[in-house]
Amino acid sequence: MVFRVVGTELAWHCCEVRRQWGRSELRGRGIVVGVSRTSTTVLGVVGAATAGLAWSVAEAHRYTLRRRETAVLPAGQPRLRVLHISDLHLTPRHQGRVEWVRRLAALDPDLVVVTGDFLAHREAVPTVMDALDPLLDRPGLFVLGSNDYYEPGIVRPWRYLMAPSALDKQRATLPWGDLVKGLGSAGWLDLSNVRGTIEAGGRHLDVRGVDDPHIHRDRYDEVAGAFDADADLALGVTHAPYLRILDAMADDGAGLVLAGHTHGGQLCIPGYGALVTNCDLPPAQASGLSRHARPWNGSGDPSFGGVDGRGTVLHVSAGLGTSPYAPVRFACPPEATLLTLTAID
Ligand SMILES: [Fe+2]
Repeated sequence: MVFRVVGTELAWHCCEVRRQWGRSELRGRGIVVGVSRTSTTVLGVVGAATAGLAWSVAEAHRYTLRRRETAVLPAGQPRLRVLHISDLHLTPRHQGRVEWVRRLAALDPDLVVVTGDFLAHREAVPTVMDALDPLLDRPGLFVLGSNDYYEPGIVRPWRYLMAPSALDKQRATLPWGDLVKGLGSAGWLDLSNVRGTIEAGGRHLDVRGVDDPHIHRDRYDEVAGAFDADADLALGVTHAPYLRILDAMADDGAGLVLAGHTHGGQLCIPGYGALVTNCDLPPAQASGLSRHARPWNGSGDPSFGGVDGRGTVLHVSAGLGTSPYAPVRFACPPEATLLTLTAID
């Protein structure tokens, strides 16, 4: 009897244990399935982010030559070829970028224009001079950018996406004076708040530029006034294409303005383009050719300016480098541009 009771209890126990085990096993499987799905999602996100980062790092070294053509010369003129380089951001370690830039001399441009941000290291002036050396026997113009004055600082991507970057006054200064001296001794003209003339490709160019508007070094009033109407080309140069500079140059009759600074948006959306320009220029104009027209104010001449009344032609270079602290590009490869200027029909 005792045995039967014990045996019954034992049997009940065994059934209960199996029942409980079965439940917990089912619960366990649910946990396993849930964890498995979460793990797959996390692994997928991490994998995609890793692949995107690897692609972005590789793309930052995929140097590209763009060829663009725009009509800004007086009727009947032969073409003029301008090599536009920007945002080199060089350090002594960037030998691949240096070699690529040196090979651009084979394009045999009539004029070379560099729109700032040459430097990214206190010992990079010789590196820059080495990169540009084969081009220095041609007519050249340049302006400086904020990164020529100050050492690179930590980049905060979320702030970059929210608003134009602000200057950290703690950043050490770079030897930009040596850079200006080196380029100047080769005959290139520093257009930082300077106005002048230059002969290129047998043409007479009326040129002017400003120091970097991004850090408020622009003094357009020092170069203001109508461009020479008899010049073959009225050319404005700035590092950052802030609207106040484009407006002022367009009002004074600039036919063409060259700028850099935007990095073309740097991290772009494929099929859409740039999200930011790091200034007040609309993202749609972050790189390449566009027209900058002042809206008619309702009185006076309704012309939009420029040499053909359709606005000043703006070319923004996406540049060749990046901050050493953000060496990535996405859907926006590094570039230099050979601009072929043609006559207006
Ligand atoms: Fe830059």
